[in-house]
Amino acid sequence: MSEEKKTIGIMTSGGDAPGMNATIRAVVRSALARDMRIMGIMRGYNGLLTGEVKEMHLRSVSEILHRGGTILYTARCDEFRTLEGQIKAAETCRKFGMSGVVVIGGDGSFRGAVDLSKQGINCVGIPATIDNDIAASDYTIGFDTAMNTACEMIDKLRDTSQSHERCSVVEVMGRNAGHLALEVGVASGATSIVIPEIPIDIENDIIHKINKVQRKGKKHFIIVVAEGTGLTNEISRRIEEETGIQSRVTVLGHVQRGGAPTVRERVMASAMGYRAVELLSFGVTNRVVVLKNSQITDMDINEALEMKKPIDLKLYKISNTISI
Ligand code: ADP
Ligand code: F6P
Repeated sequence: MSEEKKTIGIMTSGGDAPGMNATIRAVVRSALARDMRIMGIMRGYNGLLTGEVKEMHLRSVSEILHRGGTILYTARCDEFRTLEGQIKAAETCRKFGMSGVVVIGGDGSFRGAVDLSKQGINCVGIPATIDNDIAASDYTIGFDTAMNTACEMIDKLRDTSQSHERCSVVEVMGRNAGHLALEVGVASGATSIVIPEIPIDIENDIIHKINKVQRKGKKHFIIVVAEGTGLTNEISRRIEEETGIQSRVTVLGHVQRGGAPTVRERVMASAMGYRAVELLSFGVTNRVVVLKNSQITDMDINEALEMKKPIDLKLYKISNTISI
């Protein structure tokens, strides 16, 4: 008598991130290589409530490695936050024979994975968010592409602010975290970087600094502001009022979430996807795949969710020293 094949599911949840498709590809193909069945769950946890689940095959993930977005679509799902929603989701998993699910997303999605796990479904998370705010992992899928996209946009803004001898105040995504803004600010030579983790005194840290570097011959300025500070417009207004330099605000917005994933992204996605399937094949649950000290490893999701990711203060200091 032939034994039932082990079946697992895969979903993308929360905000999308470049590299999610590469992760889906890695998970699907790693599962098939282990002779498992793999089901694609559509629109994050919504798919487990509506039953929008489809079996995936080798060729279901052809030609997606280099594409942004997610072929499984992604969404936020309030109904899943309720116990009734979680019970229903677990029932759908059982209906399709899924003993485990790989959840690709950010910390919200991982909280969902913990709840689904409590309903008897093995869950493994893969960190994917442009915010890079999962403390347990040095890296989240999407971060590298978003940094490169933002930097490319700021390079273009630099041309026009240089021509007009203006100040460009650029708002970068990141929700409540400043990791994206910090690295983008360093890479684009921002005169000031404003992030939620480090309190800023607009007068001293921006206005005085602009005046000082202007006296040393600098004629145009880039200020990178993390959206989580909520200070973008105020900073731009005060620069115009207090320095007399024209200032323009650019909110980069969702462009940062799109585009072809970088090489780093594709490599991470491949390795993390492979690891997630390996974990589910061992029958473990409540784990998140992480990058630590350049190694792909895993840890308990609850433990991971309790950790706070510190900002790289040294990098912030370096930027203040050299971007003048
Ligand atoms: P991200 O995963 O990018 O952080 P969200 O915070 O929006 O995105 O979470 C994505 C989805 O995960 C939510 O819409 C919801 O379905 C689920 N989720 C988030 N937090 C919880 C929670 N505390 N309990 C159960 N499900 C949650
Ligand atoms: O978490 C990713 C992210 O792009 C944040 O940087 C941003 O604050 C948020 O999602 C935007 O969410 P939405 O796509 O719902 O506007």
